[in-house]
Amino acid sequence: PNLTITPSTHRLSDAERAKLISNPGFGRIFTDHMVVIPYRDGAWQKGELKAYGPLHLDPSCSALHYGQAIFEGFKAFSQPDGSVKTFRPEANAERFNRSAARLAMPALPPALFMEAADALISLDAAWVPKAVGESLYLRPLMFATDPFLGVRPGNEYLFVLFASPAGAYFPQGVKPVTVWISEDYVRAAPGGTGEAKCAGNYAASLAAQAQALDKGCDQVVWLDAVHREYIEEMGGMNLFFVYKEDGKTVLVTPELTGTLLPGITRRSLLELAVDLGFEAQERKLTVQQWRDDVAAGRMTEAFACGTAAVITPVGTVKANGFEMTINHGQNGPVTLALREALLGIQHGTAADSHHWMHTI
Ligand code: PLP
Ligand code: COI
Repeated sequence: PNLTITPSTHRLSDAERAKLISNPGFGRIFTDHMVVIPYRDGAWQKGELKAYGPLHLDPSCSALHYGQAIFEGFKAFSQPDGSVKTFRPEANAERFNRSAARLAMPALPPALFMEAADALISLDAAWVPKAVGESLYLRPLMFATDPFLGVRPGNEYLFVLFASPAGAYFPQGVKPVTVWISEDYVRAAPGGTGEAKCAGNYAASLAAQAQALDKGCDQVVWLDAVHREYIEEMGGMNLFFVYKEDGKTVLVTPELTGTLLPGITRRSLLELAVDLGFEAQERKLTVQQWRDDVAAGRMTEAFACGTAAVITPVGTVKANGFEMTINHGQNGPVTLALREALLGIQHGTAADSHHWMHTI
């Protein structure tokens, strides 16, 4: 094993834990333990699984200045037989290393990523919520720790993994959200870091997200940086559009152009859509087409998808001087069918025919 295990001496009681997980929300409760693995002298060192708690950092820690910081997000689900399984963690390990390469950071061996996750989830298994739609959200991250102010890739890094019981990402639950098409800000330009899951992408999105909230919306929709007309994705989710064409149901999602995050939920839904008898397409779509297709009744639903958001319907779309509703602002049947199919596989109530689930 590459990890030393030092169990926490301050674990919460069953009653305290049960109270916390009874209404987990998203991202505000953390389990008893975390994994920390340092990188130095060109190699990953022995890691530790230990009590969750603050990290000790130097003020000159280079990630705090120049942003060499990446992260991932995936979930562990309680199964009907009491076991726990994670959803496609190998895909997250792979994307983590693609993000690392873009930020000039070292790769973490996927086997080490998996070992860290399995060990943490095993030790904190009591923290995995049982209700459908609830899960244990795993947050791996890596950042440069060099105490050095020159601008260059770090020589020292820390990989950290911790876990957070999670319910619905949006406080209102599975109700359609309202989105704001950002015309003033751009998330990612060709050649930039758009397809990496790096901290800076999220920092750069926050002013636009604040503007969206100010306009009465829940989330930003990003457009491409060059033409400023192709729909890319949302702040922390990919987008899907549902079309009815000659009695067929066609799902469309923006193609991967290098400037949007290649979501693992997105990739899974492209396959699940076909399982459910729908057609699935990856292609470009402009805002004008979005408006025209909704107005003409060709596009009947739209939804956002991601690990945290699962599948969340988009009910209303706003931009400067423009507003439209989709499916009368209601949850749509195709959106709900896909959500049920995905959650069924994740919670072990439907067959895992794609072998997406990993047993802890
Ligand atoms: N797009 C962005 C910007 C994200 O942060 C996320 C969340 O991880 C996604 C899309 C969806 O990706 P995934 O389905 O892998 O969670
Ligand atoms: C996720 O879905 O895992 C995300 O990272 C989205 C957001 C919480 C940043």
